[in-house]
Amino acid sequence: MSQNLIDELAQPTLHSMQHFLSQKFEALGIETAALDARLLIQHAAAINHAAFIRDASRLMSPAELEMLRPLVARRIAREPISRILDKAEFWSLPFNLSADTLDPRPDTETLVELALELLPPKTTQTLKLLDLGTGSGCILLSLLSEWPAASGVGVDISASALAMADQNARNLGLEGRAAFVKSNWFETVSGQFELIVSNPPYIPTAEIETLSAEVAKYDPLAALDGGPSGIEPYKLLFEGAPQHLAPGGWLIVEYGYGQLEDICKLLEASPLGRIMKQREVRADLAGIDRCLAVQI
Ligand SMILES: C[S@@+](CC[C@H](N)C(=O)[O-])C[C@H]1O[C@@H](n2cnc3c(N)ncnc32)[C@H](O)[C@@H]1O
Repeated sequence: MSQNLIDELAQPTLHSMQHFLSQKFEALGIETAALDARLLIQHAAAINHAAFIRDASRLMSPAELEMLRPLVARRIAREPISRILDKAEFWSLPFNLSADTLDPRPDTETLVELALELLPPKTTQTLKLLDLGTGSGCILLSLLSEWPAASGVGVDISASALAMADQNARNLGLEGRAAFVKSNWFETVSGQFELIVSNPPYIPTAEIETLSAEVAKYDPLAALDGGPSGIEPYKLLFEGAPQHLAPGGWLIVEYGYGQLEDICKLLEASPLGRIMKQREVRADLAGIDRCLAVQI
């Protein structure tokens, strides 16, 4: 397909361009064709959804078409929309992304929901949270947005991911309650936390090249690679958690399809397993087990 696809349309309006691109994207098997088309047009025209609806019948300017051409070419090359726009929505909040941050997945909202269920709602307690492998900061910042008196630390091995998480905290007005620290899991973490959360990398190394191009090519390897078994990071999380959980505290981790049994074996053989009082498992919206919560 031509990279100048949009030039097939004479005198496009915002609306006719969206209709045209939706059809093209759909024919390529892009599931969110209409939404992607609108988001790219909005980005090229520097307008929001309300302005897109209000001005749907206005002609697109040559400058807007110029902006749109490469964006459309990138989407046709299967670059995810969040990478093209360098932003994503998670827990209904806006997050900026970089090449070193995972594109937050809707499934990970299961972890946020479970945390909100297990800890008191809208608590006025001064909860302390720790997010290991924070990436864009999406889990930590979503929880801080729900708990006005909580504060937290986001940890990552990638300095550049931490810089992006810090920028997201500032954009959301949460910078006073969120700190970001470079660490290999617990290595440089000090103190105790009422809640430790983590969505670690959990894809077995050998499987990474079998993932869809949208994941394998555009998500950072450090956010995907869970070592030969895929569950290596959990061993370190279960080893380090007892020292950093406050009495009665919870550790909540996300994991991948079919990994629960092996992760539970790791847990039972770990220092955390020995002091665990209870545990909970939650499925995501598709009914797939997604999160394990452990209380000491
Ligand atoms: C699956 S991503 C999760 C990102 C974000 N929390 C989310 O849910 O979208 C895993 C994160 O763990 C980080 N990571 C990988 N190895 C790490 C390590 N040894 N110590 C700390 N963070 C690590 C990666 O850089 C990445 O940001």
